Amino acid sequence: MVSQPVQAARLPPSAADIAAAFDGARIMVTGGMGLIGSALAERLVGLGADVLIVDCLLPDSGGNPFNIADIRERVTVAQTDIRDAGRMRELLAGCRYVFNLAGQTSHLVSMLEPLEDLDINCRAQLTLLEGCRAECPDAVLVYAGTRQIYGSPRTLPVDESHPLHPVDVNGVNKMAAEAYHILYHEVYGLKASALRLTNTYGPRMRIKDARQTFVGVWLRALLEGRAFEVWGGEQLRDFTYVDDAVDAFLYAAIVPETHGRVFNIGGDPPVSLLALADMLIAAQGDGRYEIRAFPADRKRIDIGDYHADDRLFRAVTGWQPKVRLREGLERSLAYFRTHFAHYV
Ligand SMILES: NC(=O)c1ccc[n+]([C@@H]2O[C@H](COP(=O)([O-])OP(=O)(O)OC[C@H]3O[C@@H](n4cnc5c(N)ncnc54)[C@H](O)[C@@H]3O)[C@@H](O)[C@H]2O)c1
Repeated sequence: MVSQPVQAARLPPSAADIAAAFDGARIMVTGGMGLIGSALAERLVGLGADVLIVDCLLPDSGGNPFNIADIRERVTVAQTDIRDAGRMRELLAGCRYVFNLAGQTSHLVSMLEPLEDLDINCRAQLTLLEGCRAECPDAVLVYAGTRQIYGSPRTLPVDESHPLHPVDVNGVNKMAAEAYHILYHEVYGLKASALRLTNTYGPRMRIKDARQTFVGVWLRALLEGRAFEVWGGEQLRDFTYVDDAVDAFLYAAIVPETHGRVFNIGGDPPVSLLALADMLIAAQGDGRYEIRAFPADRKRIDIGDYHADDRLFRAVTGWQPKVRLREGLERSLAYFRTHFAHYV
């Protein structure tokens, strides 16, 4: 594998740059009632932005009206499906930024309902890009891509030049959507970029089951005093705390050198799932887990070990994660101790 040359890191955008970019700007956040979208919307509201959340509260997703309860009076919410091309055009008119996070995110669901995944993660993405081209061609667009498109890594850590070989329908469709965003930059000049996110976690994630992330269902079990299941346990994974992911979206939007490019986003150094389980129990001060073999339907679409080489994004934007894994787990537990009933 040939590594991309990584230039010296630049300083991150200053608080003044960030405020100047977003204050008063009309900003669409698709998927804005989900884990990352709601945290991003909250940050943008704090920066004085005129935020328009587009979300259809897709069943089985992390979408939850409670995620935006604190900012509900200060944002516009369009409970709209991004598959609705006509309505999307109306909503896109006048937007200066589009953070495009709406997606069907479950890998297992993508195998059970492959055509729905295609409609949301592929067709609707093209619909949105056509809408941008027609209604807000000067807008800056940041797409939430995924590390899933690499499939099972051939070498670690994985940088952006690693071959793409998705192992599930979701990965294929997310790969296409990312490519559409870059294509629309190259052909039509849209200021689009894509972030290939790894496991992102934190307050507001879906914890009622493992549809969004296994970390959610671990947290739930822990908070209910039950043992959680660790499948396998040796797999290496990296994690991004949601506030660090929000920084990544803001920086990608502000720094013009990101346009037309794709970037990995990582976080703390990788940990094995067993180490993560131990860290979570230490953060809670109590708890237990059981080690189980990987279920066959999951094993087929599991990517094994993964961790990101995200030096390119750090160099281009000055981004770096600020929240260590242990601290992020503590913050997540504290949030769900208080708001548990809204998530189960
Ligand atoms: N969280 C992660 O670990 C992770 C990792 C890689 C990539 N991503 C990507 O980041 C994005 C956001 O992820 P998240 O973890 O916040 O997910 P999430 O499920 O919490 O949020 C996604 C939101 O999109 C909404 N949505 C889905 N389909 C829609 C549609 N057709 N129309 C309108 N709204 C729709 C859902 O209702 C939900 O609120 C997704 O595109 C996902 O693929 C997330």
